[in-house]
Amino acid sequence: MSTWDTLGAVKTSLTGIKPTHLPHLGNYLGAIRPALSLVDRYRTLYFIANYHALTTVRDAEKLRDYVRDVAATWLACGLDPERTLLYRQSDVPEVFELTWVLSCLLAKGQLERGHAYKEALVRGDSPNAGLFNYPVLMAADILLYDTDVVPIGKDQKQHLELTRDVALRLNHTYGENTLVVPEALITEAPLVPGTDGEKMSKSRGNGIPLFESTKKLRKVIMGITTTSETLEDPKTAEGSTVYELYKLVAPERAPEMGQKLEAGGYGWGHAKQDLYEAIEAEIGPKRDAYLEIRADEPKLDAILSDGAAKARTIAHATIQRVRDAVGIG
Ligand code: ADP
Ligand code: TRP
Repeated sequence: MSTWDTLGAVKTSLTGIKPTHLPHLGNYLGAIRPALSLVDRYRTLYFIANYHALTTVRDAEKLRDYVRDVAATWLACGLDPERTLLYRQSDVPEVFELTWVLSCLLAKGQLERGHAYKEALVRGDSPNAGLFNYPVLMAADILLYDTDVVPIGKDQKQHLELTRDVALRLNHTYGENTLVVPEALITEAPLVPGTDGEKMSKSRGNGIPLFESTKKLRKVIMGITTTSETLEDPKTAEGSTVYELYKLVAPERAPEMGQKLEAGGYGWGHAKQDLYEAIEAEIGPKRDAYLEIRADEPKLDAILSDGAAKARTIAHATIQRVRDAVGIG
């Protein structure tokens, strides 16, 4: 098995994770599981984007906790710090130097067209300058580490286009090969429904918890919205939230659940119990690992610092190249 230090020739993949809440099942199935499947093919960097979270999180204690919650979640789900760099964005301050250089090359209009910024204006919010500049910091996150590919969902595509634009502009202005121009790797991750059938999301309050107690997990699953047939009635499996979730968690057993629902004599309560058992089988062992890792903050912080030290070596080299190219230092 290769470790980080022996992965020199392999392409680099980098992803940022915003620590704004405790991860839910949608984050696991839609982001964590697919991202961890890349570890065998790429040299992988995962970082906790705590400066990006500052655009919305206003509670210092919570932010510190979320960083550790998220790091412990990824470790419990299988991230191996020997093979992958895991670090806090804030532990590599070089990212701000690059952010500034990139902002001087970006047209303000390009940021004004940013989806998140525009949506905030449409909602009638008065967005902070952090939200406006968010894509520049994200571009710096990526370009600082000579990233080849960035696995992202469709919602982040515009940010990647801006990252590529600004990298090409810098290279064109100051010298080709100053920055590596990355490509988006649009993940075909499933859209995970929440308990009300809409996209599972923290803000909608329809989340299925990942690592809370089994009692809470069961209660939330039993609360999933269903149609109101009697136990005996045949039911339509396809499109129902319980069945759609079951397909994601236990695809090999889903046809059996589908047949039972459609035959009748199998109630939504039975289906929810089967879903609960399938989810618990997948995440139960990970929950045990999570609780152990999360409880040992010094060890967790040491893993993050170790990741940051290695990440800084790459960041240093990039910043040096950029300083030389633009005429600073
Ligand atoms: P939330 O929408 O709950 O605030 P985040 O924005 O923190 O979640 O999402 C973090 C990652 O998890 C993103 O890559 C996002 O695409 C993925 N993700 C979040 N919710 C879902 C979902 N319901 N289905 C699939 N992926 C999701
Ligand atoms: N903007 C990303 C999100 O909202 C998080 C992020 C910050 C990121 N920096 C990044 C993702 C760099 C990929 C690469 O999910």
